[in-house]
Amino acid sequence: MLIGIVGWRGMVGSVLIQRMLQEEDFNYFETRFFSTSNVGGKVPETIQFRGSRVLADAFCEKSLADCDVILTCQGSEYSRKILPSIQSKGWNGFWIDASREFRMQDDTTIILDPLNRESIETAIKNGKRIFCGGNCTVSCLLMAIHGLVKNDLVEWISSTTYQAASGGGAKHMKELLNQMGKIYKCIDTSLSQDNFNILDIDDSVLNTQKNFTAEELSCFNVPLAGSLIPWIDQDRNDGWSLEEWKGDVELNKILNLDQEGIKVDFTCVRVGIMRCHSQSVILKLKQKLEIEDIQRILNEANPWVEVVPNKKAETEKRLSPLYTSGTLKIPIGRIRRLNYNDLCISAFTIGDQLLWGAAEPLRRMLRILCDENFAEEF
Ligand code: HSE
Repeated sequence: MLIGIVGWRGMVGSVLIQRMLQEEDFNYFETRFFSTSNVGGKVPETIQFRGSRVLADAFCEKSLADCDVILTCQGSEYSRKILPSIQSKGWNGFWIDASREFRMQDDTTIILDPLNRESIETAIKNGKRIFCGGNCTVSCLLMAIHGLVKNDLVEWISSTTYQAASGGGAKHMKELLNQMGKIYKCIDTSLSQDNFNILDIDDSVLNTQKNFTAEELSCFNVPLAGSLIPWIDQDRNDGWSLEEWKGDVELNKILNLDQEGIKVDFTCVRVGIMRCHSQSVILKLKQKLEIEDIQRILNEANPWVEVVPNKKAETEKRLSPLYTSGTLKIPIGRIRRLNYNDLCISAFTIGDQLLWGAAEPLRRMLRILCDENFAEEF
């Protein structure tokens, strides 16, 4: 099986390669690395396994069409240009895509195999060829509430998110850090004085934030450091942002639920965090359950979810982006019944948006295709 990988140098692509190395995925197939900017260059030694050691041209359709599977983290524009074109020339391989380009098409499957492995396998057997990673917020939430969803216990979900800068991309992370640095520089001297005046310092901070240059705001448009932005992605002009709309439609598509599916409403907020998306969630359950039973159901659902007891010390330690960052852990805590509705519970959950939110479902899809059940597909 020959796998073509495109966009492996970007942020999601780099996390993907890290994970593939950790899991020794490269032993399972031959790999051809594609490039849009360094065609003919050398494949870095760290990822030279089976396959060519020379970077192929990401726009060479002939070279792409040799591959049984193409996995792309190159972005929507690339997908939009390449996939229809190679398919129209007869390529019938598997297309695994980190972008949102084809996610909501009827013939595609959004991949989150701990929850929808069956749908993925059915799609492969039915000749479907396009498999897309889901929106990061949705994937991380579903990993957390897997147990309740699997047992058909959820009527509706309301989630307010705290989304990291990484959701926008590498440049957005850099912009956040530059803003933080500039704020610090303006108060560095005042902070080190014993008789500091906090109101003067606060004034300086505000003044710096309000006077960032256009260049310092080129990604987020407004300051993020020391502030937040309760709008992510495009304005749909119906009261919801595109990110919030995706929450509803993608969650139900992953679970293969139709109109009668789970009702979902998100309020998506960007905060000054590096790479973990957090969410404060309210779930309306279909039946009243004891909190201990809810915790057990959540904990048993998959190996990554971690129920954090609703206690101060454990919450501070384990229910945090710092604890979660760079890991596959999905902590969920602050689980309690709402005091005005017995069927509603609230919870707080966190996931690394570059791992379960992006790279991990993609590499797991590659491994699913290596399964002997699908040998005849190649
Ligand atoms: N759209 C998400 C965000 C990231 O901006 O945080 C990718 O799903």
